Amino acid sequence: MAPTAQSPLMEVEGVTVRFGGLAALSDVGLSIAPRSVTGLIGPNGAGKTTLFNVLTGVVRPQSGTVRFKGRQLRGHRQHHLAGMGISRTFQGLNLFGYMSVLDNVIVGADPLGRSRLPEMLTGLGRYQRDERELTDRAMSVLEEFGIADVAHALPATLPYGLQKRVALARALVSEPELLLLDEPASGLSGADMADLAATIRRCSRTMGVMLVEHHMDLVMDVCDHIVVLNFGQVICAGPPSTVQADPAVAEAYLGTPVQEAAGD
Ligand SMILES: Nc1ncnc2c1ncn2[C@@H]1O[C@H](COP(=O)(O)OP(=O)(O)OP(=O)(O)O)[C@@H](O)[C@H]1O
Ligand SMILES: [Mg+2]
Repeated sequence: MAPTAQSPLMEVEGVTVRFGGLAALSDVGLSIAPRSVTGLIGPNGAGKTTLFNVLTGVVRPQSGTVRFKGRQLRGHRQHHLAGMGISRTFQGLNLFGYMSVLDNVIVGADPLGRSRLPEMLTGLGRYQRDERELTDRAMSVLEEFGIADVAHALPATLPYGLQKRVALARALVSEPELLLLDEPASGLSGADMADLAATIRRCSRTMGVMLVEHHMDLVMDVCDHIVVLNFGQVICAGPPSTVQADPAVAEAYLGTPVQEAAGD
């Protein structure tokens, strides 16, 4: 069921993923509402990244369905996502080390763009115009994130907090309707964390956000709705107050201090 009266942006039903004998996800169902933040939490190994990989077509589930804006996603590929209105960040940075910050962000806007080889070779006007437009868009996102001055630097030369911003800028440049964030706060310090919370809230004015995170303060602060996974199963779903009060959630985390589990 949708967490709000609006029809959901994404709906997951009965998703099961097995890796050999291990059920990484068992009959998982959830929905993501537009213009809201849905948290996905659970101890290490609970299946959060696997679920992201299902939503983005990296992992094919053995059973179950995923619908985006009412249409079933089947056999979709990662590089089609930006065109469909879905963006993600990765656990870790996943930036291209040999490309400048600006080019990393341009790739987020146009992951297929470099394959328009014929237009490139003939130097047709449309290609050049598109290139300029993409560069302008990428630069304005870098400006929004306060990192336009390092547009031509290689990511590895920047402090970690700035690299995380580049990863987020890359996900946002395509102006997605659904943004999937896998541990965006890992490795961030207090000030960067506050910035991230503000960015997530700002994003949720125009898009649905799904947030995987171990930092509970951030999760409870920014999420409208939270889904808790444990051993591949949804054990609780509801607003932050419901999740915080649920004894099954506390039990799932026993032996896995939530803050310590962050940043892996
Ligand atoms: N490609 C794979 N092959 C085999 N097992 C896998 C694969 N990917 C994930 N797993 C296993 O599936 C389970 C779920 O892993 P997943 O990475 O989804 O957890 P997670 O909730 O993201 O954990 P974390 O909080 O540590 O990032 C784990 O037991 C993991 O070892
Ligand atoms: Mg993970």
